[in-house]
Amino acid sequence: MNKLKSRKILLLPGDGIGPEVVREVKKIIEWFNKNKSLDFSFEEELIGGASIDANKIPITDEVFYKSLESDAVILGACGGPKWDNLEFSKRPERALLKLRKELKLFANLRPAICFKQLVDSSSLKPEIVSGLDIMIVRELTGGIYFGEPRGIEPIENNQRRGINTHSYTTSEIQRIARVAFDLAKKRKNKVTSCEKSNVMEAGVLWREEVQALKDKEYKKVELNHMLADNCAMQLLRNPKQFDIILADNLFGDMLSDEAAMLTGSLGLLPSASLGSRDKKGKIRSLYEPVHGSAPDIAGKNIANPIATILSLSMALRYSLDLAKEADLLDVSVQKVLDEGLRTKDIMSVGKKEVTTTDMGDAIISKLK
Ligand code: IPM
Ligand code: MG
Repeated sequence: MNKLKSRKILLLPGDGIGPEVVREVKKIIEWFNKNKSLDFSFEEELIGGASIDANKIPITDEVFYKSLESDAVILGACGGPKWDNLEFSKRPERALLKLRKELKLFANLRPAICFKQLVDSSSLKPEIVSGLDIMIVRELTGGIYFGEPRGIEPIENNQRRGINTHSYTTSEIQRIARVAFDLAKKRKNKVTSCEKSNVMEAGVLWREEVQALKDKEYKKVELNHMLADNCAMQLLRNPKQFDIILADNLFGDMLSDEAAMLTGSLGLLPSASLGSRDKKGKIRSLYEPVHGSAPDIAGKNIANPIATILSLSMALRYSLDLAKEADLLDVSVQKVLDEGLRTKDIMSVGKKEVTTTDMGDAIISKLK
């Protein structure tokens, strides 16, 4: 068998359930190295609260540079109640935002797929969600998360004012819209772009620029515009009308949590954050489950590792050029669900409840 050249994966387990779910990913990477003659080298580093505890900052320069040099970064989760009272700029989440911004990971892909085995785990009726397959394309390095000016300032009468700025430029809008249109061609060729053009100028610009790009370069893609609040409502009323949802950083954050929950559990959904391809064809990337650190269940070996395992599968597909291995991993997850194995979050009558570790082991046994 030909040994592929070594590729560097950086594991950043982070906080809460992060270390437990990333541990299962590590086992799978080791399995691929051993059984598929792959040659991943991987390192593990601290991020978020774990890094604050050890180094007093959410991400060290050393870890940041390692992220820059990796072929793919896989992150567990950042944050938790222990660090909630820290000053804003020192919180665990800043590490994640720094990585997104400085690695220029402007495109966040968040698939929301309702697995047939888990239709009953959704809080919506089975006929509304069965077969659901949405891709949310969220802009990740602009908008109100990063706009200036920002801050909290004192004003008259002992009051204070909190300020954030929402802004987008033509090129920021068009580069994320391009990602959505390119993906659409490989799917059902339909993009729904969301904004609040009824109340925000930046929303008007968003709508105009997305439309202009479509008219110029993507004539065959079906494009609809929808106000973001209506989209939130339509996701509950009739989610299967959507194929790709394109949204800015803030609306994309909210709509992706909502779409995730349609599928039954946040514990199932992976995500990929991608930059542009460089001259050598390399793409900067970070993969993480959509769920957070879930401190309430941390350390109990009950978290669902599937979202993080499917994030590895996205890494194989988008960053490491290993589509076959990605397919193998996806199929293995399906097989385990077919057999009725469930972590607590997706448990239902007649199924077998398993731990985080058991779920990882079961998925590995299906790779064989
Ligand atoms: C997400 C999270 C993050 C965000 C937080 C942890 C900073 O909610 O990835 O969706 O708001 O983007
Ligand atoms: Mg979020």
